[in-house]
Amino acid sequence: MAGKKTFTMIKPDAVEANNIGPILAMINKAGFRILAMKYLKLTKEQAGQFYEVHKERPFYGELISYMSSGPIVAAVLVKENAVADYRKLIGATDPSKADEGTIRKLFAKSIAANAVHGSDSDDNAEIEANFFFSHLERF
Ligand code: RTP
Ligand code: MG
Repeated sequence: MAGKKTFTMIKPDAVEANNIGPILAMINKAGFRILAMKYLKLTKEQAGQFYEVHKERPFYGELISYMSSGPIVAAVLVKENAVADYRKLIGATDPSKADEGTIRKLFAKSIAANAVHGSDSDDNAEIEANFFFSHLERF
């Protein structure tokens, strides 16, 4: 059975472009409830730890520099079928391939600076939520 939780980040490019508000509005409009949320800047070490699964990928260095370059919004979202529905809402990793009306189509600048992160499985949603939030920070 699909889980009800996913984890997202609004990435530095979207924060810099003043798109926190419009992106959160799309998230709420699509039926997601915000269970936890914070605004923070990752260190390079923290970004490296979060994206450890991509350590061997050629873009890892660029990815962690980018993700620690400015503040982000981290949030846990709740909805039936959360992981798949949220990935549908954000669109393809490469914004030039993202469907019309998706968050990345509307707000992403490039494949690296692609506005938002979305968990790719229920297990990773749990791991990623635990990376940022204690149980006292979930409502
Ligand atoms: P995300 O994890 O951020 O939701 O993105 P995703 O599942 O759609 O893509 P993934 O393959 O997990 O890649 C993680 C992030 O790495 C950056 N990336 N850069 N330069 C490149 O070719 C490249 N490919 C991926 C993106 O920021 C991507 O979201
Ligand atoms: Mg991913």
